[in-house]
Amino acid sequence: MSTHIAPAPGSSTIELALKIWRYDAETGEKELKRYEVEAPDWVTLLDVLDIVKDQQDGTLAYRKSCRMMICGSCGMRMDGAAVLACKTRMYDIAKSGHEPVISPMGNLPVLKDLVVDMNPFWGKVRAVKPWLDPGYDEVAEKERIVSQQQMNVIHKEALCIMCGCCVSECNSMESDPEFLGPAALAKGMRFVGDVRDEDDVERLNTYNEEHGIWDCTRCYFCNERCPKGVDPRDAIAKLGAESIKQGIDHDMGAKHAKWFVRSAMTTGWLRETELVPKTQGVISAIKQTKFALGLAKRGKVPPPFPPHVAERVGEARALYNLVKEQGREGALGIVQGEHALGRIEFTEEAGARENAPEIQPGVEPPPAEG
Ligand code: SF4
Ligand code: SF4
Ligand code: FES
Repeated sequence: MSTHIAPAPGSSTIELALKIWRYDAETGEKELKRYEVEAPDWVTLLDVLDIVKDQQDGTLAYRKSCRMMICGSCGMRMDGAAVLACKTRMYDIAKSGHEPVISPMGNLPVLKDLVVDMNPFWGKVRAVKPWLDPGYDEVAEKERIVSQQQMNVIHKEALCIMCGCCVSECNSMESDPEFLGPAALAKGMRFVGDVRDEDDVERLNTYNEEHGIWDCTRCYFCNERCPKGVDPRDAIAKLGAESIKQGIDHDMGAKHAKWFVRSAMTTGWLRETELVPKTQGVISAIKQTKFALGLAKRGKVPPPFPPHVAERVGEARALYNLVKEQGREGALGIVQGEHALGRIEFTEEAGARENAPEIQPGVEPPPAEG
């Protein structure tokens, strides 16, 4: 079947060139090939690939299905950054004269050209138990009503289309391929934050294991590249906060985070010299004594006693107390976009107030009653 993309009425055509990394896994041959196309000015990267495949080289391999940013099939890299091909308009690029380089997503094995093996991706999604566990098997007699406010807590996580763009750019996964990764962990938060799910503790224990949430380097590339605004890094931060709230703090990362809060609250500063014993334990700290003395000799660390207390430490303590008073611990303590900013106004223990006014992004909420 011929792929003829007709210009829309009133639209003109553009000429553009792009380079595509071609790869044959069987022979191991790799080649950067250049293609020139003429196309309607509204084309996306996916349309351009269709034209190349239809008119110039039928062996070009890439994935697609919905063509409208829903199925998550068409993730790939343009100039080294993951994009959804069907979301990426080519007009500005063509007009600038730039010739983009198209390559397969990162952190996943390449099968052919722009097609990657998604098996490792799905394996990690399966590992986070991506289904609701209401804590009972029998069919409930009454419908369980969930308010919009309660669903707002996981609004962003529920937008994920499993495209893998975040995984492609994940720094931590590059150094540790076993890391659960941003997509799977965002999916995990989608269930941890769901009021109908009764398996929080077991889930959080799993996500706190080696290669779990605390292995994230906080580079924020996943937030930057996600085409659906899921903000996976924020989801991971919420999982960390929920873990600590539930007392799941056996990982060094959790201890590290707790010590940051404790030292900021007590002195207004980070008490660096106590960081190693508090997070890695006393034995590990003793083993590092020589290194620590070397640092101290060169003035790189302050003496641990007496701890330096900031002049206005009261402000840090007041902030700490405010968070406690407002119950903004756990996932509610993570400010994420407009929804989260709205939740600061209307927070409550269970995650959201059922009788709170509806919160719309960008719309000033009405004043609280009383
Ligand atoms: S913030 Fe964490 S999960 Fe996201 S890309 Fe960076 S290392 Fe990966
Ligand atoms: S979090 Fe975003 S980038 Fe990652 S798989 Fe989901 S939709 Fe794609
Ligand atoms: S083709 Fe479905 S998301 Fe691009």
